[in-house]
Amino acid sequence: MKSSKHLPVIIIMMLVSWACQVNDSSDQNSEVENKVEQLLNEMTLEEKIGQMCQVNGGNGHDENIRKGMIGSILNEVDPENINRLQKIAVEESRLGIPIIVARDVIHGFKTVFPIPLGQAATWNPDLVQKGTRIAAMEASSTGVKWTFAPMIDISRDARWGRIAESLGEDPYLTSVLGAAMVKGFQGDSLNGETSIAACAKHFAGYGAAEGGRDYNTTSIPQRELRDIYLPPFKAAVDAGVRTFMSGFNEIDGIPATGNKHLLTDVLRKEWQFDGFVVRDWASTWEMIPHGFAKDEKEAAQRAIKAGVNMEMATTTYKDHIAGLIEEGALSIEDINQAVRNILRVKFELGLFDNPYIAGEKQNQFAKPEYLEAAKKAATQSMVLLKNDQKTLPINPSSKIALIGPMADQAYEQLGTWIFDGDTTLTVTPQQAFNETFGQENVLFAEGMAISRTLHKRGFRKAIEQAKKSDVIVFCGGEESILSGEAHSRANIDLPGVQNDLIKELKKTGKPVVLVVMAGRPLTIGEISEHADAVVYAWHPGTMGGAALADIVSGKVNPSGKLPVTFPKVVGQIPIYYNHKNTGRPANPDSWTQMYDIPVKAPQTSLGNESHYIDAGFTPLYPFGYGLSYTSFEYSDLSLDKEVYSSGETIEVSFKLNNVGDLAGEEVAQVYVQDLVGNVTRPVKELKAFERISLDKNEEKTVTLTIDVNDLDFTNIDMEQVVEPGEFQLWVGGDSNAKLTTNFEVQ
Ligand code: BGC
Repeated sequence: MKSSKHLPVIIIMMLVSWACQVNDSSDQNSEVENKVEQLLNEMTLEEKIGQMCQVNGGNGHDENIRKGMIGSILNEVDPENINRLQKIAVEESRLGIPIIVARDVIHGFKTVFPIPLGQAATWNPDLVQKGTRIAAMEASSTGVKWTFAPMIDISRDARWGRIAESLGEDPYLTSVLGAAMVKGFQGDSLNGETSIAACAKHFAGYGAAEGGRDYNTTSIPQRELRDIYLPPFKAAVDAGVRTFMSGFNEIDGIPATGNKHLLTDVLRKEWQFDGFVVRDWASTWEMIPHGFAKDEKEAAQRAIKAGVNMEMATTTYKDHIAGLIEEGALSIEDINQAVRNILRVKFELGLFDNPYIAGEKQNQFAKPEYLEAAKKAATQSMVLLKNDQKTLPINPSSKIALIGPMADQAYEQLGTWIFDGDTTLTVTPQQAFNETFGQENVLFAEGMAISRTLHKRGFRKAIEQAKKSDVIVFCGGEESILSGEAHSRANIDLPGVQNDLIKELKKTGKPVVLVVMAGRPLTIGEISEHADAVVYAWHPGTMGGAALADIVSGKVNPSGKLPVTFPKVVGQIPIYYNHKNTGRPANPDSWTQMYDIPVKAPQTSLGNESHYIDAGFTPLYPFGYGLSYTSFEYSDLSLDKEVYSSGETIEVSFKLNNVGDLAGEEVAQVYVQDLVGNVTRPVKELKAFERISLDKNEEKTVTLTIDVNDLDFTNIDMEQVVEPGEFQLWVGGDSNAKLTTNFEVQ
């Protein structure tokens, strides 16, 4: 034990060590800056432009790399070839500047983790970070040093195919998990052997595509942009993300790739970001169809002036920068600044010192611990939505009819963006059920060849199998190609004849467990009536089948929670929990279902409130929702104070009791409402959460904290403030949490 008389000495030592660390990192920074400036001084304009160009992999780039005309390549994953290309850059080009090899490593590399939306359902930042660490270890063993992830676009629209790649609808959850992903990819230090640069994308607002149709216009008021869409990007900067990607979308009339306000005023000036910005695929060129640039030359000029440093795929920079400088439409300093940012990251990544991936370190994939982590992520991502009469877990001696178009699809369960995913590693539900329950107890019939099958020829066998069983597990959903980029859907029911098949299966009288593997929330409300239990498994990745077997057998108690609101019908979209109240909030007492409205009822007899007369005003399942095989009770909510000042921390304490007879994990969630603001405020906002393990009958006192400063919002004068006043706070297992108290900020 250190005695208190030593305290001043200890404090001085700590200060010295802190000062040394600060000095160390500022020394490193200035060392990198010196190297960048030296190199920049030696570069010709052509070489500078080269750094700003990223080309798609394939043959035919050698000569341009040798001439220093290529700064980055995407979509190369063969380590021998990457070393070969790197050797040309480092040993045969005039200045020996290494290329940076990029890849969309979105939710795993060979070992595929659940789609990001599924990972968000774990509400487990450590596990999510582990997932991207593993993805980085696998990807970097091929020579890939940069991933285009995390995608942290707030997604409130299940029709949008790219919701699969997102972390859901909530700014706080997305911020926490996005930052965890950045840390996992980039490791402890960017120049670590297995570190790869992360990329915060798509800056900004891409997820708000009108009607959920990909690439569509977005109209986001500045205040909503600030309070909902930008916080995850700021969190990524704070977590040290080294690159950004500008989006395809226009936002309030200005394409994101030509958006100086976002890319320069916010990102560089306000947030002090000093990594580099790549723009999405052909999005410079796309400013022409957007009607924002008359030709490629003008598009290049606008993108560079806005703050896009590197061009992906198209050649507007290569073709036009020199001419634009000659004309005075760009200055050499515009170019120097872009190149500085790119070189800085290349130095930080250690690419100059260690450009190659050594033979013995190549292709390090799918180690047992990677597969184990992927299984854990899949298990924690699965959300139990319904479990009537304790249908789940299934009694181990049961005969199970395993039916459905996703029950044995090694490829489909991996989900979108799996360029490198190895289907030979996949464990499907069928394989895992055979293992867990014994092959003789698993009666398999797909019933439909794929999720979109429109005929019923497979029904007969499926029904036969169902009749011979004690319980039916139907694995359906949507194939991976039905979500992801450019795969928006206007109808988000289960595709094909899945609903018909489920109804037929139900007629056998056997309990039906509906398992949905999908890239988005699907409108399963009506069909769930025909199921006794529902497990939402997303596209669960390589180990999805094994995870599902653990869940349905009860080896693991489900603990996933929805990162996005589930609509009853598609017409309710946009529907999200942190909405505004309106002047006429919906009221359960005065809402009348359409078919119950009397004929010729006078107009004024209806409750004139904000609701749908057919679909009501509540979702199918709220944000944060998810059941367990046990039950949790929240009680004794208290705060450490009644009145807080800015800069203080609110300590939220409550008792969490596992009142069931099984051990389990619960994600406790804290929501806050700022009751009156000088602009209107959401009805609730997630401000803290934690995954907590409890043995059966165990009770824990839990304390979560909220920084008062995190109650800020963009006020009427567009200032980011915490406004004094009354706040209400709720604690519970989803966004409908009921246990509540109030506090004040002065
Ligand atoms: C996507 C990006 C992706 C890029 C490179 C684009 O179509 O929008 O998210 O990183 O392609 O593959």
